[in-house]
Amino acid sequence: MLTTDANYWEQRYQDNNAPWNLSMAAPPFTSLLTSVNAPTAGKTAILGCGPGHDALLFAKYGFETISFDFAPSAIAIAQNLSKTMGITSEFMQRDIFELANEFANNFDYAIEHTCFCAIHPSQRPDYVNTVRSILKPNGELIAIFFAHSRPDGPPFGATLEEIHDLFSPVFDTSEIALAHNSIASRQGEEYIARFRVLK
Ligand SMILES: C[S@@+](CC[C@H](N)C(=O)[O-])C[C@H]1O[C@@H](n2cnc3c(N)ncnc32)[C@H](O)[C@@H]1O
Repeated sequence: MLTTDANYWEQRYQDNNAPWNLSMAAPPFTSLLTSVNAPTAGKTAILGCGPGHDALLFAKYGFETISFDFAPSAIAIAQNLSKTMGITSEFMQRDIFELANEFANNFDYAIEHTCFCAIHPSQRPDYVNTVRSILKPNGELIAIFFAHSRPDGPPFGATLEEIHDLFSPVFDTSEIALAHNSIASRQGEEYIARFRVLK
């Protein structure tokens, strides 16, 4: 499976063929952090962080962030950006599916943006278990889900129903809504969610 191989993603970064890179944080995250409902800062994992824009946004708002990506070039790009922007944020080259061994019960938040849609759909149950494992008992997944319906991938789309079915055994999935300020090419296809770990 191409997308399960770190070399596939690494090559995309080396070829400068990373059209998912918005060159800025995802606008729905910026809106959330500047809203009255902004989450209180806490220890935060960014999954499949890519070039690091979302991580640096959360770090700028006082979150202690550790970001993970298995493509070495993504980590290098993110570390350089962190230096350029003068924002302290940690970036680690890791396979997210290994994180439970190293970071069990470690984070107040996990941040998801175009990582869930990048992994193969067969890996989704593992993804849910990984996110649950690295979060503290009261932790929260803050996610932007790409819910397009085009066949094949990456990115692999998902319906609201699929998202609910996957996450609801271990998360309260009631808080999910269409994002109102997605970039033009993703408008109407992105959902912002705040899924708290079930007691
Ligand atoms: C579509 S990109 C999105 C990057 C970033 N979230 C963004 O929005 O710019 C997906 C990222 O997930 C990373 N990725 C995919 N599977 C991964 C895995 N198993 N462990 C760590 N990173 C992974 C890829 O290397 C890639 O950087």
